[in-house]
Amino acid sequence: MKVLVLGPGGREHAIIRALQADATVTEVHSAPGNAGIAQDVTVHAIDANDPAAARALAQELSADLVVVGPEAPLVAGVSDALREAGFAVFGPSKTAAALEGSKAFAKEVMAQAQVPTAMAKVATNAQEAADALDTFGAPYVVKDDGLAAGKGVVVTEDRQVALDHAESCFTAGGTVVIEEYLDGPEVSLFVLSDGTNVVPLSPAQDFKRIFDNDEGPNTGGMGSYTPLPWLPEGFVEDVVERVARPTITEMARRGTPFVGVLYCGLAVTSRGTRVIEFNARFGDPETQAVLARLRTGLGQLLLAAARGELSEDTALDWDPRTAVDVVMAAENYPDTPRKGDAISGLDAANALNGIHVAHAGTAEKNGDIVTAGGRVLAVVALGDDLADARSRAYDGVELISWTGAQYRSDIALVAAENRIKIPVQGA
Ligand code: AMP
Ligand code: GLY
Repeated sequence: MKVLVLGPGGREHAIIRALQADATVTEVHSAPGNAGIAQDVTVHAIDANDPAAARALAQELSADLVVVGPEAPLVAGVSDALREAGFAVFGPSKTAAALEGSKAFAKEVMAQAQVPTAMAKVATNAQEAADALDTFGAPYVVKDDGLAAGKGVVVTEDRQVALDHAESCFTAGGTVVIEEYLDGPEVSLFVLSDGTNVVPLSPAQDFKRIFDNDEGPNTGGMGSYTPLPWLPEGFVEDVVERVARPTITEMARRGTPFVGVLYCGLAVTSRGTRVIEFNARFGDPETQAVLARLRTGLGQLLLAAARGELSEDTALDWDPRTAVDVVMAAENYPDTPRKGDAISGLDAANALNGIHVAHAGTAEKNGDIVTAGGRVLAVVALGDDLADARSRAYDGVELISWTGAQYRSDIALVAAENRIKIPVQGA
């Protein structure tokens, strides 16, 4: 089969690598891709967020399957345009993608489907925001009710900082969702769905903050690892039955079936597992780690989901090793990143055993690969356990450099040292 993958980032590079490893996939195309993807497959310089442009490219290629990577094209209706033109599409409709695009909508669906999540209030002005903050108390959680690439959320002990964030969202014409704070470690679980049936992948953990020890502002994600040896037995089955399946069933009941990957962002709290957020696409950088372990053909799985033929009896085959990926970001990320610096050491890192580099914000300039975004790349490593995979990933990171490169030095460290604390249930 011939597959077209839409999107420019590290997640798409990981998806493309996994598709190339599937014997049923004969050809992979990317739009717009990045410099690393261009070394692996043919890239097409179109605006992948434009439904008409995406449809025209799929037609030109006679694609058998189109995989929509990021949230922006989903929310722009790219899947709808492709489906209307008769293509098999992995990626939800614009309406179903509102599970990610609107936090208020996601809360409404969760309430209807009785999915456990943080208590929340929508606020449209400063007075409502202040009232909601005082209802839940500190730490305060204030979320911009729209797409913000993971950066629209402020979690703070400081009431004034919380109010200021709400005010800046109101000034920009938006509303906010204010929530109770969820204690406990976070888990990202990706669940494939064909609109009815659900198949979970292996859970991963993401590192959202820019600096070591979870300090500094939120980012799109600075690294991840999978699987999670500290999760309680039956965790995945429990999330499928209490979170993913009821949500997929509720979306179908509303006449807006969700076909694609439901990303369940979860907190393992003292009162049980709670949904922090849903996303309507694979997570980045978790996908780089999760798909590095998947041995079942990804193309077959995504095509089955796109066609409404996903079998829940599918037993996925996983590499028994542990995967860790470490994101290298440009100077000044997550604010305005510095761009255009030449990257060195990529070949040396890729030559290491059990290591590969997934490109994100990279471009080609006069024969050099240069930085072209905030998160530039991720070094992905497979190892016998967390400690081994971490050490391999950092061996790769140390070979790669450019002016102002930054990365966290503690990805997967707490788990490797067996120090993850799950709050006592019922406390
Ligand atoms: P979101 O965009 O909703 O995923 O939020 C980004 C990050 O903010 C999450 O990954 C959490 O680290 C944090 N966060 C969001 N909501 C909560 C909450 N209710 N309690 C604690 N932390 C939260
Ligand atoms: N890594 C978080 C996300 O993809 O939203």
